[in-house]
Order: sequence, then C-alpha cells, then structure tokens
Amino acid sequence: MIIDHLDEPLPGSSLRPTPPGVAYTDPEIFTQEQAEIFEKQWNCVLRADSLPQAGTWKTVTVGREEIIVVRTRKAGIAAYYNVCRHRGMRICTTGEGRSKTLKCGYHAWTYALEGELVAAPNLTSMPDVDQEAYGLRPVHVREWLGYVWVCLAEEPPNFDEAVLGEVRTSFGEVESIDNYGIENLACGETKTYDVQANWKLIIENFMECYHCATIHPELTEVIPEFADGLASQRKDGVVHGASFGDEITGFTVDGSSGVAEIPAIAPDQERKYYAITVRPQVFINTVPDHVIIHRMFPVSESRTIVVCDWLFLPEVVEKINAGTLDVSKSVELFHRVNEQDFEACEYTQPSMSSSAYTSGGALVPSEHHISEFHDWWYAALGWRAPEQVRDEQTTAAQA
Ligand code: FES
Ligand SMILES: [Fe+2]
Repeated sequence: MIIDHLDEPLPGSSLRPTPPGVAYTDPEIFTQEQAEIFEKQWNCVLRADSLPQAGTWKTVTVGREEIIVVRTRKAGIAAYYNVCRHRGMRICTTGEGRSKTLKCGYHAWTYALEGELVAAPNLTSMPDVDQEAYGLRPVHVREWLGYVWVCLAEEPPNFDEAVLGEVRTSFGEVESIDNYGIENLACGETKTYDVQANWKLIIENFMECYHCATIHPELTEVIPEFADGLASQRKDGVVHGASFGDEITGFTVDGSSGVAEIPAIAPDQERKYYAITVRPQVFINTVPDHVIIHRMFPVSESRTIVVCDWLFLPEVVEKINAGTLDVSKSVELFHRVNEQDFEACEYTQPSMSSSAYTSGGALVPSEHHISEFHDWWYAALGWRAPEQVRDEQTTAAQA
C-alpha cells in the first residue's frame, strides 16, 4: 500500500498534511491496523473490579480476536483466546458470566480458570494428551490504574516503557499522574458511545482544541483558555494543565462545585484539567475531584465503540450508590463534550471518501503535534510518512 499526498503543503508552510482520505475508509488499511497496532500493542479492556470474584469473566474484542478475561482462583486475572482447542467453538458465547470452569458447549472440553484442559469426554482413554499443552491459549495481562490491559503479541512491548513510561513522561515529574491514585478510585458512571467514525478521527479530535470554541460551549465556559485553541496535551515533552476560569468552582456542566477532591494532588494540579492520549486506544483526563477514562474499541474503518468511565473517590461512589450524592453535573460536562466531539467526527467520516479529500487535509500550528501521531501510525504500519519521503527526495535531489 502506497499512500501519496497530491497537494502536500510546501515546506515552511503554516499547514502540515494529514494522511489522505483513504487512510480512514479503506477496509484493507483497517485490517492492517488491527494486525499491526491493536493486536501488537497493549489494550486497556475493562475495569479489574468488574471481575469481582473467582470465576467471573467477560469477553472483549481486541483487533480481530475475541478474548475471555477471567478472575482465576490462584493467579489473579488471566486472559485467553475465546477459541476451544478441540475444534474451535467459542467457549463463552455471551458477554459475561460466572462459572467454576470454562466449558465448551460443543463437545464439552472443559478448562480450569487457570487455562489447562481438565475434563473432556473420554479424556482418560487418551492418556497421551498433554492437558497443559491443550489448555486455552493465553494472552499477556497487566493490571494498571484499576484496569485490565491485554496484549496479543507473543512478545509484548515492555509495559513499563510502552504505557507507564509514556504516561508518566506526559504528566511530567512534578505533576505526576500518581498523585491521582487512579487505581484506588471507583467508577461512578460509565457511558458507551457507538461512534460512526474511524478511530483515528477520534484520536485526532481528542488531541486538539482548535475546535473547542466552536463546538464546546460548556467546556470553554469552565476552561476559558480552551477557547484560544490550545489543547491540554503533551507539548514539548510535558502536558499542559489547562486552568479553570476565575469564577469556576468545579469541573461541572455549569461550573458549580464538584465533589470531594482527591487528597494527594499537588498544588499545581488544583483547578486544572489535564488530558493525555495513551496510544492506541486510551484517553486519560484528570480534574481535582475526578478522572475520566476513555477506552476505544475500533469495530470497522468507519465505526468505533468508545466506553467512558467517570472515576471518583470510593467514598463518593458509595454515596452515589446510596442515592445520597448527585454527581450528574460532573458527569454531564464530559458527556456533552463526548457527544459534541463524536458528532463532529461522524460528520467528518463521510468526507473521508470524497474526491475532494483524496489528498487529505491540513493541520494548523496548534494542531502540528498531531503529526507525531500520524508519524507513529505510518511507522506502525511499516510505511514512511510523506514528509519523510519528501525530505529524502529533497536530499537526493541536492546530492
Ligand atoms: S469444539 Fe469445543 S469441545 Fe469440541
Ligand atoms: Fe473536543
């Protein structure tokens, strides 16, 4: 696959190119993304506390694979391909459940929660069958921030470098994400959005705030500097904390006070909003009293499921569950932001296949950092970015 830019802005222009429209519409490219990105990188799939007891399990889709994530008796959380080792039937045929073993519904091969084959009709008459070797095929699992992360690669990228390192670097040494104690927060609200847009449009949208003044009236009321278009994303190595407006007392839909603040946040983190992207499918947003985490699950080249959690201190969530505390104003702010962003992405997606967008679009200076995401994407698929090709051509022409 060769991706060409036909109308690439000239060197020195204020504008930088985006990938061409085909990058957002071609099913073949999407398949390559599944194989080279989602099936090779760490994916944040579900909250660890959504599997409370041994034997509780859920199925999740990662790339082109369906994965069972289960809490075992002995080894914490494990994850396996949802593929029977006998003749391939899906073992879990619903999205979630609780069972003592994982039993296939076809010929009743039965697997322990820890994966090994423990029973099958006439198994005793096949003493040569290695029950470990015929166990469920595992995938790599990590728990972090209260979430289960899985990686399908045989040799996964080093989690500490690929995920933790990137997040910590983004937050900087002082304004550390650790202060929020995200792993100790509880989930007060979850919303799922079925977005009819390519996953890259959603990432690009999240990384810039050039659109904030146009489509986010409530957000720019709370964070007036967003009206100037500067995103709370990493710039020159450190994430920019965006300040609340002077009259604003909380990150809520009307700027009124929120709930109890996370106690360990640094003075620099008070009255500020931070946001980072953890490629390829997570956004982390922090404010003084809650944390909002988005997980994306690309379904096709033009459809992405986004699951958004609002995390609060456990005592806050206890009160929410008891009906004695209302956090709807806190939830409503980012819910509106999500709806506004996803609507913009959905109105963008159809144009990606237009002949008027064959060569792609342009990034203004406050969006130039998105080029780094594009360069990562080109590299992940084994392609050279057009700018790199152009630089090489320029160098060759000068030689
Ligand atoms: S396919 Fe699962 S037991 Fe036969
Ligand atoms: Fe937005």
